[in-house]
Amino acid sequence: MGHSNPILPHGGRLVNRFLETNKSFDGMTFLDVSNDLRNDIENIADGIFSPLEGFVGKEDFQKIVLRGRLSNDLAWTIPIILDVDEQISIRMKDAREVLLKNNNEYFGLLHVEEVYSLERLSVSKALYKTDDLKHPGVLKISEMNDCLVGGKVDVISRISPSPLRKFRMTPLETRSEIQKRGWHTVVGFQTRNVPHIAHEMVQKAALNIYDGLFLNPLIGKKKQGDFKDELILNAYDSLIRNYYPRDSTVFATLHTEMRYAGPKEAIHHAIMRKNFGCSHFIVGRDHAGVGQYYQPFAAHEIFKDYPDLEIEPIFFPEFYYCKRCLGYSNAKNCPHGLEFREVLSGTKMRKLVSSGEKPAEYLMRPEISKIILSHADPFINTA
Ligand code: ADX
Repeated sequence: MGHSNPILPHGGRLVNRFLETNKSFDGMTFLDVSNDLRNDIENIADGIFSPLEGFVGKEDFQKIVLRGRLSNDLAWTIPIILDVDEQISIRMKDAREVLLKNNNEYFGLLHVEEVYSLERLSVSKALYKTDDLKHPGVLKISEMNDCLVGGKVDVISRISPSPLRKFRMTPLETRSEIQKRGWHTVVGFQTRNVPHIAHEMVQKAALNIYDGLFLNPLIGKKKQGDFKDELILNAYDSLIRNYYPRDSTVFATLHTEMRYAGPKEAIHHAIMRKNFGCSHFIVGRDHAGVGQYYQPFAAHEIFKDYPDLEIEPIFFPEFYYCKRCLGYSNAKNCPHGLEFREVLSGTKMRKLVSSGEKPAEYLMRPEISKIILSHADPFINTA
């Protein structure tokens, strides 16, 4: 298919920011960070965000937000940033090297390079195409501290193992797995949902053509009303055991936040999968969307601006179940009217199960419906 194996990481080199040290950190300035930030710091260290080696500085930040590129012109659409309040930013500027702390553990170092201010309104509009506080990304930006700190990070100790992290893999691990299996073409699949049948359709349609499928659900902070992580994990575990050929599928979780940035996030999702070693990436209907903020196929259009991405998008139209075709169809191959179509979307599945209804078997596998319906509280509730 014209792809060399292995696929080069974004920017050409897989970042590794792990540090072994016996140095004493007594008396050093420290910064307490959230679990979400710690996840992303470990992602940086593992090279999932290659070529980033830390939190972006002002020049990169501005160019990412305005142009969707780093200052060296490499494609990059979602700024990876660290926010602190003004008092702390002053201490950090003086200290230059800061210990990173999370859950009472010192786990890494931040080499402070610069401190700059966050201009909320322009950033929200550029990233999310809206300043509506109902958008989860805009809301998050509105709650951030005023100062951003740029600088490289080093990780000294990893996040402790937990059931949710059982399937996490690093790019080194996925790349070695891909090589072991002898795959030349690998299709990455992003999701933040429990699987419905349209997800399976697009994944299996890709498997008709390419060597392997890299199923990579996102586990991490999501918006109110989305499915909880444990359900996504259990559902995929069950789906794969029951419906997927083991020798053409690799399953691993990605631990980062959903940002709901639609098209811009689709590019970010593709870049991370390139770093895992994928040659192709699935983009279907309303990728990384929320509400009505993006056109359903805006995430297809944006790839035209990134001919240099070096991971090939595979675009799918919207799949639905057609009661006349008696099969899964889309507007490209089915002539029947709306009255015959059963829409397949995460929003619809969430609606069905929240009213206690079991989705029909042509919408969702019975094993998956059972996992959701037997859960006392399947949805994220941040209120
Ligand atoms: S996302 O926020 O992670 O993109 P989701 O988990 O629902 O949301 O979707 C995962 C992938 O499947 C995305 O590429 C999305 O566009 C695609 N997808 C979801 N539903 C459909 C559908 N009915 N038809 C085609 N593609 C779909």
